[in-house]
Formats: sequence, C-alpha cells, structure tokens
Amino acid sequence: MILVRNTGPLSGAIEIQGSKNAVLPMMAAALLAEGTTIFTNVPRIQDVFCMMGILQFIGCKCSFVGNTLTIDASVIDRARIPEHYVTAMRSSVMMLGALLVRKKEALTRYPGGCLIGSRPIDLHIKALTCLGAEITEEKGWIRARTEGLTGGEISFPYPSVGATENALLAAVLSRGITRIEGAAKEPEIEELCLLLNQMGAKIQGAGTGSLTVTGVKRLFGVTRRVAGDRIVAGTYLAAVMARGGKVLLKGINPKHLLSVLETFSRSGAVFHMGEDQIEVVMEGCPRGFDIVTGPYPEFPTDLQSPAMAVMAAARGDSRIKETVFESRFATAGELLKLGARIEIDGRNARIFGAAGKFPLKGAELEARDLRGGAAAVIGGMAAEGETKITGCRYIRRGYEDICRDLKALGASIEDRKP
Ligand code: EPZ
Repeated sequence: MILVRNTGPLSGAIEIQGSKNAVLPMMAAALLAEGTTIFTNVPRIQDVFCMMGILQFIGCKCSFVGNTLTIDASVIDRARIPEHYVTAMRSSVMMLGALLVRKKEALTRYPGGCLIGSRPIDLHIKALTCLGAEITEEKGWIRARTEGLTGGEISFPYPSVGATENALLAAVLSRGITRIEGAAKEPEIEELCLLLNQMGAKIQGAGTGSLTVTGVKRLFGVTRRVAGDRIVAGTYLAAVMARGGKVLLKGINPKHLLSVLETFSRSGAVFHMGEDQIEVVMEGCPRGFDIVTGPYPEFPTDLQSPAMAVMAAARGDSRIKETVFESRFATAGELLKLGARIEIDGRNARIFGAAGKFPLKGAELEARDLRGGAAAVIGGMAAEGETKITGCRYIRRGYEDICRDLKALGASIEDRKP
C-alpha cells in the first residue's frame, strides 16, 4: 500500500529507468540469437521478471544483476508459453513470432482483455499468417506452426505496436523480403529495429510506418543499453505540473516526448530539452488543457491517466478524447473519490478543475491498472491530507520504484509494503 500526503512544489533531479515497452520486445528478440545477449539499464519491474520466467521456461538461461540482464538462448527446448504468464502479462503474445522462428511452432493462451479494453490479437495473427504460419485456435489456445517462414506483404489497418513487433521478430529470419505497411512508429519499435540490425538483421525504415525486412540466415547475441522510459518520464512531468516546482529528468530522449511536451506546455509548464534530459518548471497551479490520444507521434494513451490527475487539480476545465483503447477511463472513478469532478461520455472525458473552486481531499484509492495507479499517486499528492493507494502490484509492473523517485523530488510518499 502506498501512503501519499499533500505535497508542495517538487525539486531536484532523478535518473529515468529503462523503458518497459522497449525491453519486453527486446527480450523476445534475444530468443532469435544463437548465443548470449546482454541488456543494460533494464528496469527491475514485474513485467521484466515475468518475461524472464517465460524465457527460462522455454529453455533460456537468464541472469539479472542490478540493471543488467543476460539471456543465453542457445538451447530452446519448449515451444509453449504457460497460461499463468499470459494471464499475468498479455504482451507475452509478442513471443509468438520469435518462438515460431526458433521452434517452428508456438503454443500460447489467447490473452484476455483487461481493464482498458478487449485487446484482440487479430493483427498479430494476420501478420504471422502473411509470413506462412499456420495458426489454429482451440479452447482458448493458439497454436502456430510452420515449415519455415517466408517473406510476405503485411499491411496493418491500424498501427498496432505489438503486432508490428511480432511481425518484425518473425520476418528477420524468414526467407526472402517482407514489407510491412501501416507499421507502428513508436520509439520502442525503432529501438527493436536498431537492436535487430545490431544482431545482424537487415531492416530498412526504422521509425517509419513502412518497414522492409530482408531475411538473413542467423542473428548474433549483442550487448545493448535500453533507452529511458518515455512514459515513466511523462508521468513524473505530470507530477511536477500538478504540484509545481522545478525538476530535471535525466536519461530520457526528449524527442520521444515532443507531442507530450507540446500538449503539457498548454497547462503553463515550461520545458527545457537537453541531449538526454528534460527540465520542467511549473509556477503555481496548472491551467486546464485538452488531450486527444493517438498512435505515435500523437499524444500517447499511456499518459492519459496521469494527465487526468493533473487536470483534476488544475484551474479551469479540460477535455480528453481517448482514441486508442475503448475503455481507458477507470482512473476517473478513483479521482472522483478525492472529490474530483469528471464526466465521461464514451471515449470523451470532461474534467472540471478543482483549483480555486473546491478542495480535493485525501481518500482510499485502488490502482486498477498500471497507469491508473500512477495517476492515483499524482491525485493524492494534490489532495489535502492523506491518500492510501492499494493494488500497487499494478504500479510495480511498470514503475521500478515510484515512491523512491518521487520522494527524491520532495514528495511526501511512502511504500508500506505488506
Ligand atoms: C502496447 O500495447 C503497449 N504495451 C501499451 O502499453 C500501449 O498502451 C499500447 O501499445 C498503445 O501504445 C507494450 O508495449 C508492452 P496495440 P499493445 O496493439 O501492443 C487494437 C502500458 O501501460 N488491436 O498498439 O497491446 C487494440 O485493441 C501498456 O505500458 C487490435 O484491434 O497495443 C487497441 O485498441 C498498456 N488488434 C489498439 O489496437 C490487434 O491484433 C492499440 O493496441 C492488436 C491491437
């Protein structure tokens, strides 16, 4: 349980952890190397441990010391991903492509939906089928088989992050050329392309929506540093916006947050960008501002909940339009417990800022998803009195130590681990 009290302006500097959404597909890519791959700046978060469990179950040798993760994928003796891993982390489905390449078959549980949406995997299946995989679904299990994948033409009607990652992981060792149109352009995809090319793959168009992959015969283990987590950085920028102050975030590429900084600056926050750092200055209380989420480079859906917490404490009203997931407003229910005034209408939210009108008061909140949990922390920092947050296992899935980081900036917060 996290205890957070009303917090004044924040100040200081912290290092941003490595990116969860970059390292997970990179761990799947390590499966394609005959030998050992080493990642540095890996966040010690629950999802990384879960992915490690899957890799070890299928035969990899892994060690995780400090923030350095070593994966030896020389021997893979299973092609099945156990159900409990898929339940714990639906993005384990991105292992499908890599496992299929190594073992010519892969068996995994159909990942269910979660709080933020139904989260189908039809685009993942479409991509693998385009490369010659035979996919069958029976009693909630998905089995993929192939005699050997061949290059193909993949066209995504929606730029799915996970499906683009699965397609890349399957294509790099396929025979022939694969063209992926309508690919996701998130920085995490570019990071995956750069890693795969460093391993010996031939991918052109990294960072764009059109990728061309020329299949190669083998890939080699390499050492690579994981980039800073742009969503964690954006979360902490939101915390400063909510409470005011001057903070420096180190180890983050500001180019990965351009739409976020542009949107957040409408609240009155001022940002100074460095090579791999961002300074935020917030004088007093944030003004209301509007957000429309979308695929990269638009405003990321993962920062919508933290932004809602800022809006709840702002002077003036705000609006959010969520275009990526069909039900990602659960955070509103928790912020209402603080006295926030929020109206939800389908994919649209209207937030009536509290500043100068009504006080936000501490309450008992529950983290019901990863980013909603972070939003609850920000809401608690802005509320009078004390806020207790349960369900912190969700927060630990993506934030190495949100209490350590925010306390270093002056927040009144502690992690009362049971
Ligand atoms: C990745 O999820 C991230 N997870 C999510 O972050 C992030 O919210 C999401 O991308 C969007 O940016 C990881 O990288 C591990 P999608 P993913 O496939 O790959 C629909 C967090 O908090 N869709 O781009 O699952 C889907 O329903 C997490 O760190 C299909 O219809 O996202 C959704 O509406 C939460 N069919 C939209 O596309 C498919 O086959 C975006 O999903 C796949 C997706």
